[in-house]
Amino acid sequence: MQVKLKELQVSALSAVAKIDSLKSLEDLRIKYLGKKGELTAILSGLGGLSKEERPLIGKISNEVKSAIAAALDARWAELENQEIQQKLASESIDITLPGRRIPAGRPHVLTTTLAEIVEVFRGLGYTVADGPEIEDDFHNFEALNIPPNHPARDMHDTFYLDDGRVLRTHTSPVQIRLMEQGVLPIKAIMPGRVYRCDADTTHSPVFHQVEGLVVGENITFGDLKGTLELFLKRMFGAERRVRFRNSFFPFTEPSAEVDVECFVCGGQGCALCKNTGWIEILGSGSVDPNVFQAVNIDPEKYTGFAFGLGVERIAMLKYGIKDIRLFYASDLRFLRQF
Ligand code: DAH
Repeated sequence: MQVKLKELQVSALSAVAKIDSLKSLEDLRIKYLGKKGELTAILSGLGGLSKEERPLIGKISNEVKSAIAAALDARWAELENQEIQQKLASESIDITLPGRRIPAGRPHVLTTTLAEIVEVFRGLGYTVADGPEIEDDFHNFEALNIPPNHPARDMHDTFYLDDGRVLRTHTSPVQIRLMEQGVLPIKAIMPGRVYRCDADTTHSPVFHQVEGLVVGENITFGDLKGTLELFLKRMFGAERRVRFRNSFFPFTEPSAEVDVECFVCGGQGCALCKNTGWIEILGSGSVDPNVFQAVNIDPEKYTGFAFGLGVERIAMLKYGIKDIRLFYASDLRFLRQF
């Protein structure tokens, strides 16, 4: 038995040395040391030994077992290390390859134009307010001194809802909502989406306006002129001339449209300005006393001015964009230019 054990050790150690994969090494472990392995087989003869022989054989079998186990463990570690080295060699990464570009988004040109407008008025101490896009007749028309059947309603190409409410045709109703809150003085701009049933290269059924309203004691038409002149020069450059032209809006009296010197010809006259040298940029005026009355503000005590401008129109003029639909087409070739 002693001899058999020694032979087992010798054959196991030489077998371990020849193994070159972890899988076959594990098979070998089972073959020699497993429950039904060769060592167990030899030791099954233990019962036939004398009392004196048994401890000696037990000791030897323990030595043989640990010698084989140690050889298996050592080879296991060796093979595992080899495997890692091979993997590292075959999977090496070329870190000199250029990386993949991650496309970065950017704000839409209408967003940046609006942000620019808001920034100028914030600098002048204006707050920013907003109101609902679905409006009732009172706020969109009536309170703005546009009674039913007033011809000014024709100009608005209104989208009506079944219940008689409308998609607001301008941001002016937010003026009314602000004044209804009754907190004076007011110095605010009101940007937002507006809706008109109209579509061509310069009109979109949805577009953006910025409304302005200043209400207080002793607010004059001179304040309006100074404010808008400063705003337009900030937006379009200090050297660009600005003019105020007599006009009419139901909610302002007197009213003025404001023109800036033509962007293309600089005042010489061209197709863009229809040979006038001027481009109309916004509507404005002193708040009509009828509007104050509709929101219970005393027109004897308070005065104010208002203005309204189109964000798309300003962006089109600023960047020479000829078709308003380009803003909404999500064409990256267009959007990436800004
Ligand atoms: N609400 C007018 C429009 O949509 C623009 C406008 C003109 C607003 C004069 C005003 C204003 O506040 O004073 O055409």
